[in-house]
Amino acid sequence: MVQEPAMLTVSGLATAYGESQVLFGMEFAIGAGEVVTLMGRNGMGKTTTVHSIMGIVAPRSGMIRLGAQDIAGLPSHRIARLGLGLVPEGRQIFPNLTVRENLVAAAANRDARPSPWTLPRVFEFFPRLAERQTNMGNQLSGGEQQMLAIGRALMTNPRLLILDEATEGLAPLIRQEIWNCLRRLKEDGQAILVIDKNVGALIALADRHYIVEKGRVVWSGTSAALAGDEALQHRYLGV
Ligand SMILES: Nc1ncnc2c1ncn2[C@@H]1O[C@H](COP(=O)(O)OP(=O)(O)O)[C@@H](O)[C@H]1O
Ligand SMILES: [Mg+2]
Repeated sequence: MVQEPAMLTVSGLATAYGESQVLFGMEFAIGAGEVVTLMGRNGMGKTTTVHSIMGIVAPRSGMIRLGAQDIAGLPSHRIARLGLGLVPEGRQIFPNLTVRENLVAAAANRDARPSPWTLPRVFEFFPRLAERQTNMGNQLSGGEQQMLAIGRALMTNPRLLILDEATEGLAPLIRQEIWNCLRRLKEDGQAILVIDKNVGALIALADRHYIVEKGRVVWSGTSAALAGDEALQHRYLGV
């Protein structure tokens, strides 16, 4: 389990859209260098959890701590600057900027890291983006757009990288490329929160998992525990 204080700690998180409450006391934590997942069927509150953490939607109550600092309710630009890098659901790259412009627009080296992510390093990590660097965002394939969305988040040199449905709608071979990228980032010590529907790939990649049902965590455990419990996977993940 995570040692205190974890890199990110979420507890008692409640979020609503108007009258409609979606999160009912979300609880989870991520330690430095850990890869952790949020799993669960559509509409259970995973994206709302991420949006609450990032300050895109204001939580109604609860605590969101980055290290020792409570970030709940801060504006999203401040949260991003504190070291949370989001690869959003649907990618959301700038369609009318080039690949290079999309990446440069995001650049930051907040911790003055000894080996920060830079344009050359992102191009080395994603050779496809180097080949396409003068193309506009809307000229890229789905897989290339996803790589650009990840590269853009890396350019902020995040302490925690958050990916919301990063392989959605991609062909199997491209998906595999994305999983390989995430494995390399993990080996590099990058802390990652992943949301995805590919249970097998998540079990292979991540250290620990949280299953979300109707805005609450209903199960948490290691990859070995999840892999060994077919009834659990069937009940909450429909696999
Ligand atoms: N902007 C919004 N306004 C109103 N309801 C929303 C909004 N975004 C999501 N919801 C609702 O909140 C619930 C959780 O959605 P979401 O967090 O996107 O789930 P997940 O990411 O697990 O699929 C769903 O019932 C969804 O319809
Ligand atoms: Mg979602």
